[in-house]
Amino acid sequence: MRKINFFDTTLRDGEQSPGVNLNSEEKLAIARQLERLGVDVMEAGFPASSQADFQSVQEIAREIRGCSVTGLARSVKSDIDTAWEALKDGASPRIHIFIATSDIHLKYKLKKTREQVIEQAVEMVKYAKSKFPIVQWSAEDACRTDLGYLAKIVGKVIEAGADVINLPDTVGYLAPAEYGNIFKYIKENVPGIDNVTLSAHCHDDLGMAVANSLAAIENGADQIESVINGIGERAGNASLEEIAVALYIRKDFYQAETRLKLDEIKRTSDLVSNLTGMAVPRNKAVVGDNAFAHESGIHQDGYLKEKTTYEIFSPELVGVKTDALVLGKHSGRHAFKDKLKQLGFQFEEEEVNHFFRIFKEFTAKKKEITDEDIIAIVLEEKVSSRKAGYDLEGLQVNYGTSQVPTATATLRNQFTDEVIHEAATGTGSIEAVYNTLERCIGEEVQLLDYRIQSNGKGRDAFAQVYVQVLFEGKEGSGRGVAQDVLEASAKAYINAVNRILLLKDSNQYFSTTETSAVETKTVG
Ligand code: KIV
Ligand code: ZN
Repeated sequence: MRKINFFDTTLRDGEQSPGVNLNSEEKLAIARQLERLGVDVMEAGFPASSQADFQSVQEIAREIRGCSVTGLARSVKSDIDTAWEALKDGASPRIHIFIATSDIHLKYKLKKTREQVIEQAVEMVKYAKSKFPIVQWSAEDACRTDLGYLAKIVGKVIEAGADVINLPDTVGYLAPAEYGNIFKYIKENVPGIDNVTLSAHCHDDLGMAVANSLAAIENGADQIESVINGIGERAGNASLEEIAVALYIRKDFYQAETRLKLDEIKRTSDLVSNLTGMAVPRNKAVVGDNAFAHESGIHQDGYLKEKTTYEIFSPELVGVKTDALVLGKHSGRHAFKDKLKQLGFQFEEEEVNHFFRIFKEFTAKKKEITDEDIIAIVLEEKVSSRKAGYDLEGLQVNYGTSQVPTATATLRNQFTDEVIHEAATGTGSIEAVYNTLERCIGEEVQLLDYRIQSNGKGRDAFAQVYVQVLFEGKEGSGRGVAQDVLEASAKAYINAVNRILLLKDSNQYFSTTETSAVETKTVG
């Protein structure tokens, strides 16, 4: 059996999904869960893109010990230096540097010749190698690169010291057989290729990212770059969970194994979906709610007689629990603390006590507190407890079918301690709430998107609201959880404003040599 390494890029390429911006607490929670899932490498971010990214990559590298932590860098010295500062305390520091290699990128984006790109790539690999024990090099847009040129530059960067060669299908263009052929060609034509790890990185523009990744494995790739739930730039990246389960279930065909703990997949998927606000489609392979649901009579009949008639793997394989331990009002601190740990949270005793008190308050209102509820409570608290802007101290809404909806709200400015009361009307309750909050804040907050979903099942389920706003010229997303939909809506709105204030406050945008940080967020 061959061993396939999983390089997870949920926190870098995945986080480049439009509308997603995770804060450092959230990224750390995901990183801990990825470690538990057993990924071999996690790409924690792009350190030179912003101060916030730098800090969160550094925090993750300092804490995670069970796998290698990497960060993305352009092929410029300043990016490599910044990445080193962020990653040097990691268990097994590695850098991921990239440069575009296709003629279309050379002509329009880099405005460089092929020879100039080889020179820059070689120089930067050597420079990176003088700092990092492991250097991964990526040929951005490899799939639209002239194959002879690709083989040439790959050979040169191997000579310069690269340990991992990644050939991304940056724009999700190729069919599986074509992508596989690139790996075959590079394997057969590049001297020294057998001494490095060959890696695949696929985007899903034509819905072929998973198939392409598997084709790369068939043709010599030993490392797969993928993300949880297939999130990412445009149509997203290849789904880690789909590739992992395909390799496991079709071991007979792929003759490959991984070190992933497949029964951590569902928990990881739920956490990422919760924190990013990117809901998993019900029919999504492996992690969708319907992935194990049998609807038609004929299917149900067959399934009841023998599960394998219609189910090629059991929900338990990927950690879908049918008998999850649900906490309630009789659950003690010990069980609660255990649950926090299981869910990937690590807190000091004092914080555990704090969350336990909140948990107890909730049990007075809600009979069963599910894993989803606990995740929601913890994340909500961690986010809203940050000194970042406004705190919702009170909200009241009047609604009647023949009345004009009216809201009053009290906000506290966390910096000045000023308490602000306002009231406003709207054509609906949520508009009334948002008009009121906007008055409290005293500046225009444009609502770009609003989504609401129930956190779990039942009438007493928590409401989870995601919003996207434009405030002070910046777009930001926010998330709010509460038992009441209006309170959840208000919290999401304030959370979005606070996140924008936090980014502004941490002076997040580094000035970089080539492009602004906002532009660098759009690679890959
Ligand atoms: O898709 C891509 O080309 C990337 C690179 C930066 C590796 O994400
Ligand atoms: Zn990418």
